Amino acid sequence: MSGFQRNIRLTVNGEERSLDVDTRWTLLRTLRESLGLTGTKRGCDRGECGACTVVLEGETVVSCMTLVALCDGAEIVTVEGLGTEGSLDRIQQSFMDNDGGQCGFCTPGFLMSATALLARNPNPTDTDIKAALAGNICRCNAYGRIIASVRAAADGA
Ligand code: FES
Ligand code: FES
Repeated sequence: MSGFQRNIRLTVNGEERSLDVDTRWTLLRTLRESLGLTGTKRGCDRGECGACTVVLEGETVVSCMTLVALCDGAEIVTVEGLGTEGSLDRIQQSFMDNDGGQCGFCTPGFLMSATALLARNPNPTDTDIKAALAGNICRCNAYGRIIASVRAAADGA
């Protein structure tokens, strides 16, 4: 093990992992390149676009700005942890039903922000939804349908 390597434990999408990580790596790089969880997207790689959003201990974080070594012992949910094999969860389904994605690159990040929102606030106002999604950028400008998708998921529509 090099001087930059360290063993940490993570729970990712409900599965406990023991990982030798490079302490210089971000959580995003580790998820994508060590764990093969490429649903979490690399957009700006500088904390501005939200494409890399995951849920860490119940809170959204931009994984491109999170050093993996600081996540030892943490519980992480990525977009792969939503739904089950062959079955979408209600927020994913709502994005499908309400045309919440265009090119889809931003969609995993929006799904994670929406998931964290509805976990802490099952009855959000439209203002709450917009505030929760404020850190996510959609270059296709699909904001209206994205917000409608979260609204419908919250309403159980
Ligand atoms: Fe992390 Fe853009 S890739 S915020
Ligand atoms: Fe293309 Fe959002 S749907 S970036």
